[in-house]
Amino acid sequence: MEEKIIKKKRIFSGIQPSGELTLGSYMGAIKNWVALQDEYECLYCIVDMHAITVRQDPALLRRRSVAQLAQYIACGLDPQKNIMFIQSHVPQHAELGWVLGCYTQFGELSRMTQFKAKSQQHADNITSGLFTYPVLMAADILLYQADLVPVGEDQRQHVELCRDIAQRFNGVYSDTFTVPESFIPKMGARVMSLGNPENKMSKSDPDGCVFLMDKPEDIMRKFKRAVTDCEMAVKYDKVNKAGISNLLTIYCAATGKTLEEAEAEFEGQGYGVFKPAVGEAVVELMRPIREESERIMKDKAYLESVYKEGAAHAQYLANKTLSKVYRKIGFVAR
Ligand code: TYM
Repeated sequence: MEEKIIKKKRIFSGIQPSGELTLGSYMGAIKNWVALQDEYECLYCIVDMHAITVRQDPALLRRRSVAQLAQYIACGLDPQKNIMFIQSHVPQHAELGWVLGCYTQFGELSRMTQFKAKSQQHADNITSGLFTYPVLMAADILLYQADLVPVGEDQRQHVELCRDIAQRFNGVYSDTFTVPESFIPKMGARVMSLGNPENKMSKSDPDGCVFLMDKPEDIMRKFKRAVTDCEMAVKYDKVNKAGISNLLTIYCAATGKTLEEAEAEFEGQGYGVFKPAVGEAVVELMRPIREESERIMKDKAYLESVYKEGAAHAQYLANKTLSKVYRKIGFVAR
């Protein structure tokens, strides 16, 4: 099979189908994926193997994996331009993951803040998969020789570790992997919970979290109830006004306005005007995505053709790297 585009730099990124897509994952990641799809050769993945690091309901996982693809497309990712696929359809991820695990230190993995947080959340089920999760993530990226990894702020540390693993491997066996860079947006890199603006917006906290598929009335209700402070001023101050600062960031990411423009727009107006205005901006941003996604979801044959073609193309690229790696480390050719 021919490679679609040869000269462009390459992007890899993915999202776990462990819940519905959130406004956080949209603003932190997908928005940039859409913006970068013409400039780069992009692989956008549904990382179901990462999702099983915590317990999943099998029927839900299956449904969400396909729904997530529909939502990627509804957000504006063109399957003609991008390679879109499901991680478990490309076994090379697991194969390279095993190899890279042999070049990653226990101490490095112990320092991952996401592992520390998740092992607290799932204290009764801290699996070795949860611990070695960042190694699989490094395999995802390095398998495709990706130059750029567009993610939210919470994934920066994992991409750093991926770079360290790549450099270490290259140091031992000569240049094998492209050392990737993370690409983190200026606005929306860390969308905070509406209910508790000290915490990241996350699918595990449904009240503080806006989902891409939420109905307009639910989105409005969540924004009207968003926790703020007892002052009146719509001003960006992350330390003293975490809630308002988060809402301002969301408003700016949704409308493309700058913080200064947004502050000026709401000067002298109370939170009773500001909060619904943010809600409306998000409703308008999400409406076409939800409608388009519902339409695409009805066409299962189309979705299947997209993920099958994506996996075939991804496997072709992945094999090139994996056979190089196997040769370098001394495995006998099959
Ligand atoms: P995941 O599935 O938790 O999140 C998907 C993407 O959304 C971003 N994100 C956010 N950005 C801003 N504010 C938030 N509140 C917010 N919540 C989530 C995340 O930073 C991420 O970009 N390990 C990854 C998935 C992964 C991956 C990869 C990413 C697996 N392999 C290879 C890039 C490359 C994860 O758990 O993301």
